[in-house]
Amino acid sequence: MSTKNPRLSFSRAQGRQPEHKILAIPGPVEVSNNVLEALAQPPLSHVSPDFTRIFQEALSLSRKVVGSQNGQPFVIAGSGTLGWDQVGANLIERGDKVLVLNTGYFGDGFKDCLTSYGAVATILMAPSPGETVPLAAIESTLAGQKYKLITITHVDTSTGVLSDVHDITKVVRRVSPSTLIILDAVCSAGCEDIKMDAWGLDIVLTASQKAIGALPGLSILIASPRAIQTYSSRITPVQGYYASWKKWLPIMEAYVAGKAAYFGTQPVNLVRALTEALKELMKDGEEGLAKRIEAHRKVARRLRAVAAQLGMKSLATQGAEAAGLTAIWVPEGLTASEILQKAGAKGVVFAGGLLADVKDRYIRIGHMGVSVTDEARGDTNRITDVLYSVINELLAEKRMDRATTEI
Ligand SMILES: Cc1ncc(COP(=O)(O)O)c(C=O)c1O
Repeated sequence: MSTKNPRLSFSRAQGRQPEHKILAIPGPVEVSNNVLEALAQPPLSHVSPDFTRIFQEALSLSRKVVGSQNGQPFVIAGSGTLGWDQVGANLIERGDKVLVLNTGYFGDGFKDCLTSYGAVATILMAPSPGETVPLAAIESTLAGQKYKLITITHVDTSTGVLSDVHDITKVVRRVSPSTLIILDAVCSAGCEDIKMDAWGLDIVLTASQKAIGALPGLSILIASPRAIQTYSSRITPVQGYYASWKKWLPIMEAYVAGKAAYFGTQPVNLVRALTEALKELMKDGEEGLAKRIEAHRKVARRLRAVAAQLGMKSLATQGAEAAGLTAIWVPEGLTASEILQKAGAKGVVFAGGLLADVKDRYIRIGHMGVSVTDEARGDTNRITDVLYSVINELLAEKRMDRATTEI
């Protein structure tokens, strides 16, 4: 492990950006200089030809990130949660049955959102935190009851659990082909494999601030022709106003066609930064995206190996570990809060646990976007170095405390 002075190494690595702590939480994440500079430009008119071109590019690229040719993109000011609301407002009619696969905190949130629009939810829980929902349970539940839609959290950010979306889609297509498949890809788009068209996903929803590599503030959602058809043939009116596709669909269709339209002022600078991030993400096409995903997996493997040396086990079971986020149990005798505090003092920001019962028993480390793809920044080395030194220092302090008490 390197023993470099953290302050010197991280200010050099961040280049043109002001010196700051490395954000190693599962979003927001570090962003590139181009993304940051796009944000800092004078605002454009949201109906100008210049902005229209930029927005059109963002819409087109956001489809590509999730493997869709014909999906209808929506990019709307709001956080990732707005994607859930778009599903609830536009696809749910009171009494519709939905099946929610739950691998952590965000499954609960998606369920709460859909039931607030009148959905009747069946929840399939992972047997224990860190596990995925067994395919056999999904199959038998779908066989026993017709569901309008099923939701999958691709990576649950509270546990770092990666669900095997492709395998799940195969089961749904075979057992209940009319069920719409909704993927929450907030913590996976840009760092995990997603083949929307090939796998038959109906909605892929994500957000700007994680592996996409932009700033918080944009909900990004791609809807399949079948999802748009389901929305168009609703019997009851769409519930809500801001999340309604009645409002947004004509706007998005206009920008896709290179024409400006208005419903709610676009956050022009956020969109500009998003376009930069998506251009970086897709600069080498599908092949580049595949390499980027592999780079995230490699960093995740390395971090897990360091954690294992420190006696820290992954929450996610083997084979279900995410590429952009690592959730690890803290060593016996330590708490998440003290690890976070010491890491922060060394210039790296980790996140604590999100599962209420074990909140202080594990930490979450985000490794997404430019921290992974731009090795010259040195972020991932810094993150592993800090984890290593923080845990060793804290364990040594505890040993000293014990020795002093015994004396
Ligand atoms: C898997 C998942 N879904 C949904 C959300 C909600 O996104 P936001 O916090 O941007 O509203 C998050 C946030 O981290 C998430 O990780």
